[in-house]
Amino acid sequence: MNKKRRRLSVLFTFIIFTTLGIFLFIQINKSRDLSNINQLKKNFELVLDLTSDMLSSGYFQWDDVYEAVKNSDKVFLDDTFLEIIFLNEYITSIKIIDEKPENLSKWFTKKTINNKIVVNFNVYDSRQNNVLRDHYVQVTFNKIKIMRNIQSKNIYLLEDTGNYDFLYENRLRSQNPPILIFQLISSIGIGLLCALILNRVYYTHSHFFYETRGLQKIIFLFEQTERFSANHSKNVAAISYILGEKYGLKRRTLKDLKVAALLHDIGKISVPREILNKVDPLTEKEFDIIKEHATFADRILEDFEELSHLRTFIKHHHEKMDGTGYPSGLKGNEIPLQSRIIAVADIFEALTGERPYRKPLEPLAALSFMKRMSLDQDILILLEKNIHLICNKIHIAD
Ligand SMILES: [Fe+2]
Ligand SMILES: [Fe+2]
Repeated sequence: MNKKRRRLSVLFTFIIFTTLGIFLFIQINKSRDLSNINQLKKNFELVLDLTSDMLSSGYFQWDDVYEAVKNSDKVFLDDTFLEIIFLNEYITSIKIIDEKPENLSKWFTKKTINNKIVVNFNVYDSRQNNVLRDHYVQVTFNKIKIMRNIQSKNIYLLEDTGNYDFLYENRLRSQNPPILIFQLISSIGIGLLCALILNRVYYTHSHFFYETRGLQKIIFLFEQTERFSANHSKNVAAISYILGEKYGLKRRTLKDLKVAALLHDIGKISVPREILNKVDPLTEKEFDIIKEHATFADRILEDFEELSHLRTFIKHHHEKMDGTGYPSGLKGNEIPLQSRIIAVADIFEALTGERPYRKPLEPLAALSFMKRMSLDQDILILLEKNIHLICNKIHIAD
């Protein structure tokens, strides 16, 4: 991926995730407001109903008030009404009305007018045998005062719907600015974080990709100069991948195994060409030089941070199960599984390929030869089971 496209996708990620963050906070705010409003409505109705119940049963079902209203005893009524207003901060006025309020229920009926709530009461005697038919009591409540007393933080106003029944809508009047700023910054933060993660993934991926590709190119060019081992690393990688897959390795481990197999002989660039291409048997000294390719590979990969986790697999691809291999003489399970797989793939590919000093072996002959070698027998079984597939993959007749 080129730089321009990478920057664009990082920017795009930033915008998308910031927008998503803002959208998420809007939804959270909305649902929080809705639940606040619903709770507020319930509290409001509770206060109003309790107060109205108290007035109805305490004052307007009382013989003294019944008689006073019936006889228009202004002095008594003024005293009583003043007492009620004094005792209840939500009530702003009380008066007697002659006209029957609309839809008056048995005890009282509520109605909203702008910021006031009007509650009309029937007036009964104490035993509720008699009710006045031409006089009613009208009590006005201050809606805002009730709201201010029941709400916890934000200021809410009741909207007047103009309905006679006690129907109203609440509206969130003010959002808390510091919270909004915090949410906005958080959204930008989320967007930024996602963009940085994506950028890091691109960076790591492209590093891994280009470093691997670069080294593979070196191996490929190097192998082309050798008469007999062109495509050796490619084939070893293909065989290792099949063996690893059949062994049950997961995707990521398989990918690493394949790259390690591709790079397993990178250290051979340190071995003089005349030794690598020698037709006659190698001297002990020459063989020692060849052996150095395993540790030399480790030294090359030291400088490639993104490939550092593959170094041990490559370094030990010539170890033997009985500890007679090189460079460290590791035994059995001390040898990393990936190295054991690469070892099997490496030897199979070498035996079935042409070499300066011998003709290629038939796959089954190579296999039976390998069974006598100190290799991981479990992996050899996998090789045997999948020999047809493997031979197809590396284009040799089985
Ligand atoms: Fe090797
Ligand atoms: Fe090899």
